[in-house]
Amino acid sequence: MMGLRFYLCFLALFSTFFISTLGLGHLCLPEEHVALFIFGDSVFDAGNNNYINTNTDYQANYEPYGEKFFKYSTGRYSDGRIVPDFIAEFAKLPFITPYLHPGYDQYTDGANFASAGAGALAETRQGMVIDLKTQLSYFKNFERLLSKKLDDAEAKSLLSRAVYLINIGANDYVVPFTRNSSIFQSYSQKEYVDMVIGNLTFVIKEIYKEGGRKFGFPNVAPLGCLPLGRALNSGKTNECKHELTALAKLHNKALSKVLQNLENELNGFRYSIADAYTVLSERINNPLKYGFKEGYNACCGIGPYRGINSCGGKRSVKEYELCENASEYVFFDTAHPTEKAYQQLAELMWSGTPNVAGPYNLKALFEQK
Ligand SMILES: *[C@@H]1O[C@H](CO)[C@@H](O)[C@H](O)[C@H]1NC(C)=O
Ligand SMILES: *[C@@H]1O[C@H](CO)[C@@H](O)[C@H](O)[C@H]1NC(C)=O
Ligand SMILES: *[C@@H]1O[C@H](CO)[C@@H](O)[C@H](O)[C@H]1NC(C)=O
Repeated sequence: MMGLRFYLCFLALFSTFFISTLGLGHLCLPEEHVALFIFGDSVFDAGNNNYINTNTDYQANYEPYGEKFFKYSTGRYSDGRIVPDFIAEFAKLPFITPYLHPGYDQYTDGANFASAGAGALAETRQGMVIDLKTQLSYFKNFERLLSKKLDDAEAKSLLSRAVYLINIGANDYVVPFTRNSSIFQSYSQKEYVDMVIGNLTFVIKEIYKEGGRKFGFPNVAPLGCLPLGRALNSGKTNECKHELTALAKLHNKALSKVLQNLENELNGFRYSIADAYTVLSERINNPLKYGFKEGYNACCGIGPYRGINSCGGKRSVKEYELCENASEYVFFDTAHPTEKAYQQLAELMWSGTPNVAGPYNLKALFEQK
Protein backbone atom coordinates (compact mmCIF):
# COMPACT_ATOMS: atom_id res chain seq x y z
CA MET A 1 0.00 0.00 0.00
CA MET A 2 2.67 2.44 1.07
CA GLY A 3 4.90 1.37 -1.78
CA LEU A 4 2.21 2.08 -4.32
CA ARG A 5 1.51 5.44 -2.75
CA PHE A 6 5.17 6.37 -2.91
CA TYR A 7 5.36 5.21 -6.49
CA LEU A 8 2.35 7.32 -7.53
CA CYS A 9 3.76 10.18 -5.57
CA PHE A 10 7.07 9.78 -7.32
CA LEU A 11 5.33 9.81 -10.70
CA ALA A 12 3.48 12.98 -9.72
CA LEU A 13 6.70 14.59 -8.62
CA PHE A 14 8.49 13.46 -11.76
CA SER A 15 5.82 14.80 -14.11
CA THR A 16 5.34 18.12 -12.34
CA PHE A 17 9.09 18.58 -12.48
CA PHE A 18 8.81 18.79 -16.25
CA ILE A 19 5.41 20.39 -16.52
CA SER A 20 5.56 23.04 -13.84
CA THR A 21 7.84 25.92 -14.58
CA LEU A 22 7.16 27.24 -11.09
CA GLY A 23 8.91 24.28 -9.55
CA LEU A 24 6.05 23.78 -7.11
CA GLY A 25 6.07 20.02 -7.39
CA HIS A 26 3.87 17.98 -5.12
CA LEU A 27 5.47 16.99 -1.86
CA CYS A 28 5.09 13.36 -1.01
CA LEU A 29 4.19 12.45 2.52
CA PRO A 30 4.17 9.01 4.06
CA GLU A 31 0.76 8.11 5.51
CA GLU A 32 1.86 8.32 9.13
CA HIS A 33 3.44 11.76 8.87
CA VAL A 34 1.99 14.01 11.59
CA ALA A 35 2.62 17.76 11.52
CA LEU A 36 2.79 20.02 14.58
CA PHE A 37 1.17 23.46 14.80
CA ILE A 38 1.93 25.70 17.74
CA PHE A 39 -0.06 28.67 19.07
CA GLY A 40 0.28 30.71 22.22
CA ASP A 41 2.62 32.85 24.28
CA SER A 42 6.24 32.97 25.45
CA VAL A 43 6.10 29.41 26.73
CA PHE A 44 5.83 28.32 23.08
CA ASP A 45 7.32 31.24 21.08
CA ALA A 46 10.49 30.07 19.32
CA GLY A 47 11.24 33.53 17.89
CA ASN A 48 8.22 35.04 16.11
CA ASN A 49 8.58 38.21 18.15
CA ASN A 50 12.04 38.74 16.64
CA TYR A 51 10.22 39.72 13.45
CA ILE A 52 7.46 42.02 14.70
CA ASN A 53 7.50 45.66 15.64
CA THR A 54 7.74 45.41 19.43
CA ASN A 55 10.33 46.02 22.13
CA THR A 56 12.77 44.03 24.24
CA ASP A 57 10.12 43.46 26.94
CA TYR A 58 8.58 40.98 24.52
CA GLN A 59 11.76 39.59 23.01
CA ALA A 60 14.41 37.20 24.23
CA ASN A 61 16.84 37.31 21.32
CA TYR A 62 19.82 38.43 23.39
CA GLU A 63 22.17 36.96 25.99
CA PRO A 64 21.81 34.95 28.15
CA TYR A 65 18.59 33.53 26.67
CA GLY A 66 18.82 30.29 24.75
CA GLU A 67 22.52 29.81 24.96
CA LYS A 68 22.71 26.52 26.74
CA PHE A 69 21.43 24.53 23.80
CA PHE A 70 21.47 26.76 20.74
CA LYS A 71 24.72 28.66 21.46
CA TYR A 72 22.95 31.85 20.47
CA SER A 73 19.74 33.58 21.50
CA THR A 74 16.93 32.44 19.25
CA GLY A 75 14.09 34.30 20.94
CA ARG A 76 13.14 31.42 23.21
CA TYR A 77 12.36 32.42 26.79
CA SER A 78 14.59 29.89 28.54
CA ASP A 79 18.23 28.87 28.78
CA GLY A 80 17.70 26.33 25.99
CA ARG A 81 14.93 24.33 24.40
CA ILE A 82 11.26 24.93 25.19
CA VAL A 83 8.27 22.58 25.26
CA PRO A 84 7.50 22.56 21.49
CA ASP A 85 11.14 21.64 20.77
CA PHE A 86 10.93 18.56 22.97
CA ILE A 87 7.54 17.56 21.57
CA ALA A 88 8.94 17.87 18.03
CA GLU A 89 11.92 15.71 19.05
CA PHE A 90 9.65 13.04 20.58
CA ALA A 91 7.52 13.06 17.41
CA LYS A 92 10.68 12.70 15.27
CA LEU A 93 10.06 16.04 13.60
CA PRO A 94 12.66 18.76 13.16
CA PHE A 95 12.33 21.80 15.45
CA ILE A 96 9.30 23.74 14.22
CA THR A 97 10.34 27.11 12.80
CA PRO A 98 8.65 30.40 13.73
CA TYR A 99 6.18 31.17 10.96
CA LEU A 100 7.46 34.74 10.67
CA HIS A 101 11.06 33.64 10.15
CA PRO A 102 12.00 35.00 6.70
CA GLY A 103 13.36 31.58 5.70
CA TYR A 104 10.22 29.71 6.79
CA ASP A 105 9.73 26.72 4.49
CA GLN A 106 8.52 23.83 6.61
CA TYR A 107 5.05 23.35 5.21
CA THR A 108 4.66 19.64 5.78
CA ASP A 109 6.15 19.56 9.30
CA GLY A 110 4.08 22.40 10.73
CA ALA A 111 4.53 25.96 11.91
CA ASN A 112 4.93 27.90 15.13
CA PHE A 113 2.64 30.95 15.44
CA ALA A 114 3.20 31.66 19.16
CA SER A 115 4.09 35.15 20.34
CA ALA A 116 5.65 36.05 23.68
CA GLY A 117 3.37 38.24 25.77
CA ALA A 118 0.22 37.24 23.88
CA GLY A 119 -3.11 36.46 25.39
CA ALA A 120 -6.47 35.12 24.30
CA LEU A 121 -7.86 38.63 24.77
CA ALA A 122 -6.90 40.98 21.97
CA GLU A 123 -6.46 43.73 24.58
CA THR A 124 -3.64 41.90 26.37
CA ARG A 125 -0.54 43.89 25.34
CA GLN A 126 -2.32 45.08 22.23
CA GLY A 127 0.04 46.36 19.55
CA MET A 128 3.11 44.71 21.06
CA VAL A 129 2.34 41.03 20.44
CA ILE A 130 0.45 38.73 18.09
CA ASP A 131 -2.80 37.92 19.88
CA LEU A 132 -4.34 34.48 19.51
CA LYS A 133 -6.91 35.50 16.91
CA THR A 134 -4.18 37.05 14.73
CA GLN A 135 -2.16 33.84 15.12
CA LEU A 136 -5.22 32.07 13.71
CA SER A 137 -5.22 34.40 10.70
CA TYR A 138 -1.55 33.51 10.10
CA PHE A 139 -2.54 29.86 10.22
CA LYS A 140 -5.12 30.55 7.52
CA ASN A 141 -2.43 32.23 5.39
CA PHE A 142 -0.30 29.16 5.95
CA GLU A 143 -3.12 26.98 4.61
CA ARG A 144 -3.34 29.02 1.41
CA LEU A 145 0.39 28.48 0.87
CA LEU A 146 0.07 24.79 1.72
CA SER A 147 -2.61 24.35 -0.92
CA LYS A 148 0.01 25.34 -3.52
CA LYS A 149 2.37 22.62 -2.31
CA LEU A 150 -0.02 19.69 -1.85
CA ASP A 151 -3.11 18.53 -3.67
CA ASP A 152 -6.42 18.96 -1.84
CA ALA A 153 -6.62 15.44 -0.44
CA GLU A 154 -3.05 15.57 0.85
CA ALA A 155 -3.52 18.98 2.44
CA LYS A 156 -6.73 17.85 4.09
CA SER A 157 -5.06 14.74 5.43
CA LEU A 158 -2.10 16.73 6.73
CA LEU A 159 -4.39 19.14 8.61
CA SER A 160 -6.56 16.43 10.14
CA ARG A 161 -3.65 14.26 11.23
CA ALA A 162 -1.74 17.20 12.68
CA VAL A 163 -1.50 18.02 16.37
CA TYR A 164 -2.37 21.60 17.42
CA LEU A 165 -0.66 22.72 20.63
CA ILE A 166 -1.98 25.84 22.33
CA ASN A 167 -0.57 27.53 25.43
CA ILE A 168 -2.52 30.67 26.25
CA GLY A 169 -4.13 32.53 29.15
CA ALA A 170 -1.34 33.35 31.61
CA ASN A 171 -0.75 36.84 30.17
CA ASP A 172 -4.45 37.68 30.28
CA TYR A 173 -4.25 37.29 34.07
CA VAL A 174 -0.73 38.54 34.76
CA VAL A 175 -1.08 41.82 32.87
CA PRO A 176 -3.92 43.31 34.98
CA PHE A 177 -1.96 42.44 38.14
CA THR A 178 1.41 43.82 37.11
CA ARG A 179 -0.27 46.97 35.73
CA ASN A 180 -2.50 47.36 38.78
CA SER A 181 -5.42 47.68 36.39
CA SER A 182 -8.96 48.14 37.57
CA ILE A 183 -10.37 45.47 35.27
CA PHE A 184 -11.59 43.41 38.22
CA GLN A 185 -13.74 46.32 39.29
CA SER A 186 -15.60 45.98 35.95
CA TYR A 187 -15.73 42.19 35.76
CA SER A 188 -16.09 39.46 38.32
CA GLN A 189 -13.26 36.95 38.22
CA LYS A 190 -15.61 34.41 36.69
CA GLU A 191 -16.77 36.80 33.95
CA TYR A 192 -13.18 37.61 33.10
CA VAL A 193 -12.14 33.95 32.95
CA ASP A 194 -15.18 33.24 30.76
CA MET A 195 -14.02 35.92 28.29
CA VAL A 196 -10.54 34.40 28.09
CA ILE A 197 -11.92 30.89 27.65
CA GLY A 198 -14.51 32.19 25.17
CA ASN A 199 -11.81 33.67 22.94
CA LEU A 200 -9.78 30.47 23.15
CA THR A 201 -12.86 28.40 22.29
CA PHE A 202 -13.49 30.55 19.23
CA VAL A 203 -9.98 29.81 17.95
CA ILE A 204 -10.24 26.07 18.66
CA LYS A 205 -13.50 25.92 16.71
CA GLU A 206 -11.98 27.81 13.78
CA ILE A 207 -9.05 25.39 13.62
CA TYR A 208 -11.56 22.55 13.76
CA LYS A 209 -13.45 24.08 10.81
CA GLU A 210 -10.19 24.14 8.88
CA GLY A 211 -9.84 20.42 9.51
CA GLY A 212 -7.89 20.25 12.78
CA ARG A 213 -8.93 17.37 15.05
CA LYS A 214 -6.18 16.78 17.65
CA PHE A 215 -5.47 19.45 20.23
CA GLY A 216 -3.03 19.66 23.12
CA PHE A 217 -3.06 22.18 25.99
CA PRO A 218 -0.86 22.64 28.98
CA ASN A 219 -3.08 24.33 31.55
CA VAL A 220 -2.04 27.60 33.21
CA ALA A 221 0.82 27.56 35.74
CA PRO A 222 0.39 28.55 39.41
CA LEU A 223 0.96 32.16 38.36
CA GLY A 224 1.19 33.71 41.82
CA CYS A 225 3.98 31.27 42.75
CA LEU A 226 6.26 32.13 39.84
CA PRO A 227 9.13 34.46 40.84
CA LEU A 228 7.15 37.37 39.35
CA GLY A 229 4.14 36.48 41.51
CA ARG A 230 6.18 36.25 44.71
CA ALA A 231 7.91 39.52 43.85
CA LEU A 232 4.50 41.25 43.63
CA ASN A 233 4.18 40.30 47.29
CA SER A 234 7.56 41.65 48.31
CA GLY A 235 7.67 42.05 52.04
CA LYS A 236 5.73 38.89 52.81
CA THR A 237 8.46 36.30 52.76
CA ASN A 238 8.00 33.37 50.41
CA GLU A 239 4.34 33.95 49.84
CA CYS A 240 2.65 33.37 46.54
CA LYS A 241 0.37 36.08 45.15
CA HIS A 242 -2.74 34.13 45.99
CA GLU A 243 -5.26 36.18 43.98
CA LEU A 244 -3.27 35.49 40.83
CA THR A 245 -3.01 31.78 41.49
CA ALA A 246 -6.76 31.72 42.19
CA LEU A 247 -7.41 33.03 38.66
CA ALA A 248 -5.18 30.33 37.19
CA LYS A 249 -7.20 27.73 39.08
CA LEU A 250 -10.51 29.16 37.85
CA HIS A 251 -9.16 29.21 34.30
CA ASN A 252 -7.99 25.61 34.49
CA LYS A 253 -11.32 24.39 35.76
CA ALA A 254 -13.15 26.23 32.98
CA LEU A 255 -10.69 24.91 30.38
CA SER A 256 -11.29 21.28 31.39
CA LYS A 257 -15.02 21.81 31.23
CA VAL A 258 -15.06 23.52 27.84
CA LEU A 259 -12.86 20.82 26.28
CA GLN A 260 -15.16 18.09 27.56
CA ASN A 261 -18.07 19.95 25.98
CA LEU A 262 -16.25 20.38 22.68
CA GLU A 263 -15.51 16.66 22.60
CA ASN A 264 -19.26 15.99 22.77
CA GLU A 265 -20.14 18.77 20.37
CA LEU A 266 -17.56 18.31 17.60
CA ASN A 267 -17.31 15.04 15.75
CA GLY A 268 -13.77 13.60 15.83
CA PHE A 269 -12.43 16.28 18.19
CA ARG A 270 -9.77 14.84 20.53
CA TYR A 271 -7.62 16.60 23.08
CA SER A 272 -4.98 16.33 25.73
CA ILE A 273 -4.77 18.60 28.76
CA ALA A 274 -1.47 18.49 30.60
CA ASP A 275 -1.66 19.53 34.22
CA ALA A 276 1.22 21.98 34.04
CA TYR A 277 -0.21 23.66 37.14
CA THR A 278 0.50 20.63 39.30
CA VAL A 279 3.71 19.61 37.52
CA LEU A 280 5.21 23.05 38.21
CA SER A 281 3.81 23.37 41.73
CA GLU A 282 5.46 20.10 42.69
CA ARG A 283 8.84 21.26 41.39
CA ILE A 284 8.54 24.69 43.00
CA ASN A 285 7.75 23.16 46.37
CA ASN A 286 10.00 20.06 46.26
CA PRO A 287 12.87 21.00 43.95
CA LEU A 288 15.25 18.37 45.35
CA LYS A 289 12.85 15.55 44.57
CA TYR A 290 13.02 16.45 40.86
CA GLY A 291 16.75 17.13 40.55
CA PHE A 292 16.71 20.91 41.20
CA LYS A 293 18.19 22.93 44.03
CA GLU A 294 16.00 26.04 43.78
CA GLY A 295 12.27 26.34 43.18
CA TYR A 296 11.47 29.90 44.33
CA ASN A 297 14.20 32.13 42.92
CA ALA A 298 14.77 32.58 39.19
CA CYS A 299 18.22 32.00 37.71
CA CYS A 300 18.20 35.33 35.86
CA GLY A 301 16.72 38.65 36.96
CA ILE A 302 16.95 41.03 39.90
CA GLY A 303 15.18 41.93 43.12
CA PRO A 304 13.19 39.63 45.37
CA TYR A 305 13.28 36.09 43.94
CA ARG A 306 14.98 37.65 40.90
CA GLY A 307 11.34 38.28 40.09
CA ILE A 308 11.89 41.61 38.33
CA ASN A 309 11.88 41.04 34.59
CA SER A 310 15.38 42.32 33.76
CA CYS A 311 17.15 39.20 32.47
CA GLY A 312 19.66 40.25 29.82
CA GLY A 313 19.65 43.91 30.89
CA LYS A 314 17.84 45.18 27.82
CA ARG A 315 14.47 45.99 29.37
CA SER A 316 13.52 48.98 31.53
CA VAL A 317 15.54 47.66 34.49
CA LYS A 318 19.15 47.16 33.35
CA GLU A 319 20.68 45.34 36.31
CA TYR A 320 20.38 41.61 36.47
CA GLU A 321 22.01 38.66 38.17
CA LEU A 322 22.62 35.34 36.48
CA CYS A 323 23.08 32.06 38.33
CA GLU A 324 26.03 29.79 37.60
CA ASN A 325 24.09 26.71 36.64
CA ALA A 326 20.55 27.06 35.31
CA SER A 327 19.95 23.32 35.60
CA GLU A 328 19.75 23.73 39.35
CA TYR A 329 16.75 26.06 38.98
CA VAL A 330 13.12 25.46 38.11
CA PHE A 331 12.85 29.00 36.69
CA PHE A 332 15.22 30.64 34.27
CA ASP A 333 13.72 34.13 34.46
CA THR A 334 10.88 35.76 36.32
CA ALA A 335 8.16 33.72 34.59
CA HIS A 336 9.76 31.00 32.46
CA PRO A 337 11.08 27.56 33.39
CA THR A 338 14.58 26.39 32.57
CA GLU A 339 15.22 23.91 29.79
CA LYS A 340 15.48 21.17 32.39
CA ALA A 341 12.06 21.98 33.88
CA TYR A 342 10.56 22.29 30.38
CA GLN A 343 11.98 18.90 29.46
CA GLN A 344 10.32 17.29 32.47
CA LEU A 345 7.00 18.95 31.59
CA ALA A 346 7.29 17.95 27.92
CA GLU A 347 8.01 14.32 28.85
CA LEU A 348 4.86 14.24 30.97
CA MET A 349 2.82 15.87 28.20
CA TRP A 350 4.12 13.27 25.79
CA SER A 351 3.72 10.07 27.74
CA GLY A 352 2.19 10.98 31.11
CA THR A 353 -0.63 8.99 32.68
CA PRO A 354 -4.21 10.38 32.44
CA ASN A 355 -3.97 12.22 35.77
CA VAL A 356 -1.15 14.36 34.27
CA ALA A 357 -2.01 14.27 30.55
CA GLY A 358 -5.54 13.25 29.69
CA PRO A 359 -7.82 11.98 28.36
CA TYR A 360 -5.04 11.25 25.85
CA ASN A 361 -1.36 12.05 26.11
CA LEU A 362 0.37 13.65 23.11
CA LYS A 363 2.04 10.41 22.08
CA ALA A 364 -1.41 8.85 21.69
CA LEU A 365 -2.66 11.83 19.69
CA PHE A 366 0.33 11.64 17.34
CA GLU A 367 -0.25 7.92 16.82
CA GLN A 368 -3.97 8.19 16.08
CA LYS A 369 -5.26 8.54 12.53
C1 LIG B 1 -11.29 38.47 22.30
O1 LIG B 1 -11.07 39.48 23.23
C2 LIG B 1 -11.20 40.83 22.87
C3 LIG B 1 -11.21 41.63 24.12
O2 LIG B 1 -9.88 41.96 24.37
C4 LIG B 1 -12.35 41.09 21.93
O3 LIG B 1 -12.36 42.42 21.54
C5 LIG B 1 -12.24 40.12 20.79
O4 LIG B 1 -13.15 40.40 19.79
C6 LIG B 1 -12.39 38.76 21.32
N1 LIG B 1 -12.59 37.69 20.35
C7 LIG B 1 -11.66 36.94 19.73
C8 LIG B 1 -12.20 35.86 18.87
O5 LIG B 1 -10.47 37.07 19.84
C1 LIG C 1 -2.96 50.21 42.69
O1 LIG C 1 -4.23 50.79 42.59
C2 LIG C 1 -4.82 51.13 43.81
C3 LIG C 1 -6.26 51.61 43.55
O2 LIG C 1 -6.51 51.89 42.22
C4 LIG C 1 -3.97 52.18 44.51
O3 LIG C 1 -4.53 52.52 45.76
C5 LIG C 1 -2.57 51.60 44.72
O4 LIG C 1 -1.72 52.57 45.28
C6 LIG C 1 -1.98 51.14 43.38
N1 LIG C 1 -0.72 50.45 43.60
C7 LIG C 1 0.34 50.63 42.85
C8 LIG C 1 1.54 49.83 43.21
O5 LIG C 1 0.35 51.39 41.89
C1 LIG D 1 24.67 21.87 36.91
O1 LIG D 1 23.67 21.30 37.76
C2 LIG D 1 23.25 20.02 37.36
C3 LIG D 1 22.06 19.64 38.27
O2 LIG D 1 22.36 19.78 39.62
C4 LIG D 1 24.42 19.05 37.44
O3 LIG D 1 24.01 17.79 37.01
C5 LIG D 1 25.55 19.57 36.54
O4 LIG D 1 26.68 18.74 36.69
C6 LIG D 1 25.92 20.99 36.91
N1 LIG D 1 26.86 21.52 35.93
C7 LIG D 1 27.96 22.13 36.27
C8 LIG D 1 28.81 22.63 35.15
O5 LIG D 1 28.30 22.30 37.42
